Amino acid sequence: MPNHLIQAGILGVGSYVPERILTNKEIEKMVDTSDEWIRTRTGIRERRIADPALSTADLAARASRNALEDAGVKPEELDLIILTTCSKDMIIPAGACLVQMELGASNAGAFDLEAGCSGFVYGLTVASQFIATGAMKRILVIGSEALSKIINWEDRNTCVLFGDGAGAVVVGPVAPGEGILASKLSAEGSGWEHLYIPAGGSKIPADPVTVEQKLHYVHMNGKEVFRYATRVMEEESINLIKAANLELSDIDLLIPHQANIRIIEHAAKKLKLPMEKVMVNLDRYGNTSSASIPLALDEAVKSGRVKAGDNIVMVAFGAGLTSGGVVLKWSKGEGE
Ligand code: ACO
Repeated sequence: MPNHLIQAGILGVGSYVPERILTNKEIEKMVDTSDEWIRTRTGIRERRIADPALSTADLAARASRNALEDAGVKPEELDLIILTTCSKDMIIPAGACLVQMELGASNAGAFDLEAGCSGFVYGLTVASQFIATGAMKRILVIGSEALSKIINWEDRNTCVLFGDGAGAVVVGPVAPGEGILASKLSAEGSGWEHLYIPAGGSKIPADPVTVEQKLHYVHMNGKEVFRYATRVMEEESINLIKAANLELSDIDLLIPHQANIRIIEHAAKKLKLPMEKVMVNLDRYGNTSSASIPLALDEAVKSGRVKAGDNIVMVAFGAGLTSGGVVLKWSKGEGE
């Protein structure tokens, strides 16, 4: 182990979304809602829905292949796979193991990390510690969700919000001063009941009654989550920028968790960041939970919105309740 810390950064990014588009107009036929309500209250126009045969791990493997190709890293070079998700394939085993098998990443350890929609920034932070100490050199961090399978399609409070998709990054050493400059993980467990799936775990095991009562689907107190989100998105961003020794004016791009355009615009306004410096793609994908930030990062990079040396703030909130973020100087370069 080296006697100094190594800087961790992103060596490659990739994503995958299912082909099937579900528009607001189609949802109008399923529950008592309207395209107008969904657009004005959330900013969402459409979302992607995974084929019945495709699971979260399948989406994850597809995004991962794209990230590995982008990084020029072979699956067998990976030391670790961290899959962040709240819609895992099965309670046992970890979906990361299914991705490891699918990719043929024969030298990698694999585990799942669940931190609601904050999962990806949690995963990135965990991965960066192994790189910093020199214990590992190549780590795949994935955010992947097949949320359409755990949503009650008769509940208009939730079904209009979520979508399926996956994003992945390869994390490794980068030059000093580049890569992850600061990160922060927070939680307020007292708010767990605002966003949860009541049954199917050890607290309320699944049985015919829990299924009949639809307790195996996402339950959400939207107002409380909204209140939490508007508070922490601003707080976390300010603390992160300070921790990275940067000023707000140094930030080139904010990539917030894509849940609701009103939450994003509120954060941008409080931070006095013009919307040109804020990445938004929830109009096309809805809330893809832990996939939303890597999906938006991939789009930002591939569309040329991110260039070497840019300071990026990624900030999220979600079930737990959790929040957190990462400040990154974009490099995609090789360090030690
Ligand atoms: N279509 C039409 N009307 C609706 C719908 C719908 N889909 N959903 C709710 N309404 C109604 C409500 O019943 C209510 O009617 P009422 O006034 O007659 O009672 C009215 O619209 C207003 O409801 P509110 O809940 O006040 O609507 P609000 O403007 O707060 O928007 C929303 C609701 C979009 C859910 C918002 O609260 C929100 O975005 N919350 C955050 C949710 C979130 O981000 N969750 C993901 C967290 S991340 C994770 O870890 C998965």
